[in-house]
Amino acid sequence: MPVINEFFLDLPENYLFSDIAKRVKKYKEENPEADIIRLGIGDVTLPLPKVAIDAMHKAVDEMANADTFRGYGPEQGYEFLRQAIAEDYKRRGVNLDIDEIFISDGSKSDLGNFTDLLDRDNRIAIIDPVYPVYIDSNVMFGRCGKFGEDGRWSNLIYIPCTADNDFIPDFPSEVPDVVYLCYPNNPTGTVLTKEQLSKWVDYALEHNIIILFDSAYEAFISEDNIPHSIYEIEGADKVAVEFRSFSKTAGFTGVRCGYTVVPKKLNFKGKNGVEGNLNRMWCRRQTTKFNGTAYIVQRAAEATLTDEGRRETKELVNYYMNNVSLLRKSLQGIGLEVYGGCNAPYIWIRVPKGETSWSFFERMLKEKHIVSTPGVGFGPSGEGYLRITGFGKYEDTLRVIDRLKNWKL
Ligand code: MLT
Repeated sequence: MPVINEFFLDLPENYLFSDIAKRVKKYKEENPEADIIRLGIGDVTLPLPKVAIDAMHKAVDEMANADTFRGYGPEQGYEFLRQAIAEDYKRRGVNLDIDEIFISDGSKSDLGNFTDLLDRDNRIAIIDPVYPVYIDSNVMFGRCGKFGEDGRWSNLIYIPCTADNDFIPDFPSEVPDVVYLCYPNNPTGTVLTKEQLSKWVDYALEHNIIILFDSAYEAFISEDNIPHSIYEIEGADKVAVEFRSFSKTAGFTGVRCGYTVVPKKLNFKGKNGVEGNLNRMWCRRQTTKFNGTAYIVQRAAEATLTDEGRRETKELVNYYMNNVSLLRKSLQGIGLEVYGGCNAPYIWIRVPKGETSWSFFERMLKEKHIVSTPGVGFGPSGEGYLRITGFGKYEDTLRVIDRLKNWKL
């Protein structure tokens, strides 16, 4: 008799963004005249940069010709892209061997899959609020315990990040085995300075902890002294895995390409004391369970890392960050307290007194036809907050600002 993985049944019925999409769809069915503007999920709206399109066309032509056709590629990614990424890191003073870079179909998959390498009994810490993938993928392995009425998983270590601590994570009272950090942060849009992140690297080195560092939004950093990569900090290559994506940087949400850096210095022990190397383990995992990202897509990703590609992707980033800045001013103008949005495409709004995340989400949808994301969907410390993104079109951003004007909160 087959036995299913019951831990899946512990998960909430829907993934956060699917849940929101369902609610919005229902509202739209009941109110077909509503002109809804979506600033909920962080999905890009501008077309791909021209360099990426040109590279894709060229790669399609290669696939159409028997002499240049490519079948299975290396599971870890083509050398041309891994090399281009290594050079990108070098610009920030980080030296990586290309064998430490693994190309994938996006960092969501890698973040979810990386837990394959970890024993079930690891104690996992997350900063709260958090990108739901970190929790859900560990729930699937049975690492998080049970979901309580307080909105917390019984076995997970929560590190609250709210306005009360300026969104700077403190070390938890219990030392975890693995900690997820995401900077610039999704969902709060806040950042850590180099000094603040260095403390986490030192903590991990001292306690022999793995840091799973999500830097999908590094391209949105505009201020100095904010690290783009955790490897800008000495010693991080002994404790940290870094996840990156072309999704937000180059508009690849629908194209799918990301990469994960797993340094060769990452050695940790199994339950029986035998040492394993995470780089080799990840390589083994990927070569077994993943067959590589499409050649056409990898050529497009490579093109975004050329000089012209950098210029074009910077334009995309500037476009979205201009939206963010306009939205920030408008929200502040109607008396809302806002955070983030200076080095990240997300704005984290404190909901007005007497409201909850979901009640304010519903109000914004019903009264202004604007879709946001309720902060509590990202974890218990997100209660009382709402997230909106700058990834909409400029024209829609202006329409949002117009709708928000004179809103009685
Ligand atoms: C978000 O809105 O938090 C992200 O777009 C989700 C993702 O990157 O998967």
